[in-house]
Order: sequence, then C-alpha cells, then structure tokens
Amino acid sequence: MSVRIAVLASGSGTNLQALLDHFRTDDSADITLVISDRADAGALARARAADVDSEHVEVRGRSDDDVARQTLALLEQHGIDMIALAGYLRLVPARVTERFRSRILNIHPALLPAFGGAGMYGRHVHEAVLAARVKVTGATVHFVDERYDEGRVIAQWPVPVLPGDDAATLGARVLRVEHRLFPVVVAAVARSLGHSESAGVGRAASRPSGQADIFRLTASPDGIEAEISGLTGL
Ligand code: GRF
Repeated sequence: MSVRIAVLASGSGTNLQALLDHFRTDDSADITLVISDRADAGALARARAADVDSEHVEVRGRSDDDVARQTLALLEQHGIDMIALAGYLRLVPARVTERFRSRILNIHPALLPAFGGAGMYGRHVHEAVLAARVKVTGATVHFVDERYDEGRVIAQWPVPVLPGDDAATLGARVLRVEHRLFPVVVAAVARSLGHSESAGVGRAASRPSGQADIFRLTASPDGIEAEISGLTGL
C-alpha cells in the first residue's frame, strides 16, 4: 500500500517540487495533498501544475485550535499517513504533531541543533552561519515536535562554507543538497511506515512514538541512498 503524504509549505516550494519529482517514479508513497498558510505560495501553484490537491489554510488571526481542527479534517479527508514540512514557516499545532508523532518530518537548511529555532529560516539561517564564521553548514531532516527545529534528527548532509560566500550563494549550495536529501529520507521513512502493519490518521493516534534506531545514508556517484531499519513502535 502506498503511503499518502501531505506537504506543508509557505514559500516557492522547490523542496516540494523535489518530492513531486521523486515520487513520480517511486511508488512507496504519493504526494496526495499540499497545504499552505499563504494563498499565493508558489508551492500551491506547483501542486496544481502536478495535479495534486491543494488547500490554503489561513493561520493569521486564528486560534491554534481552529487551525488544528481544519488541518486535521483535511488530513483525514485525504487519508494522509505522513506529513513533510517543506519550507513551512508556522509552528504546527500540537494536536497535529501529537497525531502524527514520528510521521511528520521537516527539512532545515543548517546542521541542527546549530542555527535553528524561532526566526531561523531562509536567509536568516545563512546570515547567522556566515556571522559565526563556521566552515561547514548543511541540511538536516528531523522529526517535528511542538517546538521549532527540536525534534529528533534523522539525517544530515554537510555543505562547505566557501571564502567569498554571501547568504545567497551559500543558501543556493545548501538548497541543492536539500533537494537531494529530503526525497530519499522521506521515501525511507515512508517505506518503513508502509511496511508496518498499517498507517493512517486514526491508527497513528493510538501508537507510541517511533524510534529510528538505524538510519544509513550512503553516497555513490549516482546519488544518495537512504535506508532505515529498526524503526520501531510505529
Ligand atoms: C528551504 O531552505 C528549507 O530548508 C526551509 O525553507 C526553505 C524552503 O525553500 N525550511 P523552498 O520553498 O522549498 O524553495
């Protein structure tokens, strides 16, 4: 059974595009739904172009409860098993993270726990990396919990900071890595869910959180392979 993924995105959606492209030929999962807090997000246009259902869920001026109720209703209607945050700039309501514990992933453009937390998004991350004069940054995929960028790290990929970099050149180098890393990690987690006896919003609620015991990434001239084994308790 193919795992049904919802992607939440606020921006242009290039990471969403990488996921859409990947799952065209990988049948372990489907990108079934795209949700954005911004009606004009490029991500919603990319979803429409790919013939994927898309929804605008307004966050400004609404209570967490209200946003959670609408989001969970949409996820349920679409039979969503797993969520990928691809440049989603809002805190996901706790009722959603609880329901999707160990089934909700985020990509962050730095090596967490460094350069994460509230306000650390987009250009701000790369400016902070440059100001700190570190030699290596990278991309992190992690599980999402109730706090910004604090969930358990699943995979990281280093990227060098080069002399003469500014936030734009560094951000572009990191983004190229994000586009390769996120799909393989999302696919690996999806495969591990697909292999567990069942997935789905209803079941996820009653399950304990998973433990990614072994996550292996291997690089080859043809790309990155990801494999998760021992993902228990899902
Ligand atoms: C990416 O750098 C991602 O890591 C961060 O937001 C950015 C989104 O870019 N969370 P895009 O919308 O996927 O192009």
